[in-house]
Amino acid sequence: MKKTLILSSLVVFLLSCNNSPKNVNRVLSDLEENSIKEIKVLSKSEGDLILTNTCYACHNPNSTSHDNMLAPPLAGIKNKYLNTYPTKELFVTQMSDYIFNPTEENALMKGPIKRFGIMPKTGLSKSETREMALFIFNNKLEVPSWFPEHFEDMHKEKWEENSSK
Ligand code: HEC
Repeated sequence: MKKTLILSSLVVFLLSCNNSPKNVNRVLSDLEENSIKEIKVLSKSEGDLILTNTCYACHNPNSTSHDNMLAPPLAGIKNKYLNTYPTKELFVTQMSDYIFNPTEENALMKGPIKRFGIMPKTGLSKSETREMALFIFNNKLEVPSWFPEHFEDMHKEKWEENSSK
């Protein structure tokens, strides 16, 4: 009896480790690949304005501690996306899909959903979310001062944005 219980909790545990989103191995069609070239490239000030007005209320890079965040820092999210989706086309497609329609199924990381709850919709249009995902891909993002040390504790490697592997 006890054995079955241990065994079944092990199975549940192992299953819950398999938490990558269903679309990690997604292959883009030529149409999707080409559509990335049509996305308007935001200037640094245009992109920063949207980050400040629409994202940083939660993904605040000026937070003074890990404890007063409402969401993970975007630079950390960017790193995780780059490691999973190394091409610009996949990165932009996957990140903009999430921002436009944040669902648990689409999320790359399940930990932050447990900690913070699922991100609400931002109100950006489909093309605006694509512009923002491209902007995030192309630009270095600010990180909170506590973040590099936290990252190094978690990953046992030095924090460096854009360390696409
Ligand atoms: C009202 C708070 C809030 C706002 C505003 C917000 N986010 Fe989020 N975001 C969250 C939270 C909380 C999470 C972590 C939970 C989750 O993944 O949904 C998150 C997660 C994410 C993720 C990672 C999802 C994944 O795949 O795991 C991305 C990408 C993201 N946000 C981008 C943005 C961008 C870009 C903006 C601005 C256009 C923005 N967010 C605005 C709260 C917010």
